[in-house]
Amino acid sequence: MLTMRRGQRSDVEACARIVVTDPLWRRYRLTLPRARRVLREAMGRRVGRSRDRAELAVATLGRSVVGFVLYHLHGTFHSSGYVRWIAVATQARGRGVGRALMRHAEAHIFRTGPNVFLTVSDFNRRAQFFYRTLGYRNVGAIPNYVIPGITELLYRKTIGSITRRRKE
Ligand SMILES: CC(C)(COP(=O)(O)OP(=O)(O)OC[C@H]1O[C@@H](n2cnc3c(N)ncnc32)[C@H](O)[C@@H]1OP(=O)(O)O)[C@@H](O)C(=O)NCCC(=O)NCCS
Repeated sequence: MLTMRRGQRSDVEACARIVVTDPLWRRYRLTLPRARRVLREAMGRRVGRSRDRAELAVATLGRSVVGFVLYHLHGTFHSSGYVRWIAVATQARGRGVGRALMRHAEAHIFRTGPNVFLTVSDFNRRAQFFYRTLGYRNVGAIPNYVIPGITELLYRKTIGSITRRRKE
């Protein structure tokens, strides 16, 4: 059964391995040590009530971690929700795991404000379809941001009105 739960330090290794086994992430020069570092740092920042703390949620099937989402409640413009990384193990794709992870992150973010933002590379068509299916829309483009020659597309999903923004 697919289960969603908060990530723990003991999940870092499984999440880092999901990331680096996909050739996609090699384009970002994401090595196993760097993936571990980013995920560990995210866990570390949980302490306190800092606005930029990261949240990790993992999806499990049986005892195995099959995907994760790393997000920030106020990580965009120091105000709105930001999904930094989402990845599903190749063998578990196409079965609703990614959708369930995004739902989990969105439910948390939408409790604090009406917007979720993320970026997706212009070449990552698969992820663009995925996000559009979930209601995200392209609201901008940032050329040469992460990889020279590649444009990062800025995607947004919103449930809110301008008056609710003040609460973010
Ligand atoms: C993008 C990713 C997280 C999707 O996870 P997933 O578990 O395969 O997605 P789901 O099965 O939950 O799919 C949800 C919906 O997205 C759409 N979708 C998913 N993959 C798709 C694809 N390759 N092509 C078109 N649509 C797709 C489907 O319409 C699906 O809707 P359905 O359930 O009605 O069929 C996964 O492919 C992944 O880990 N990719 C590599 C990492 C990555 O690109 N991350 C994003 C970086 S910005």
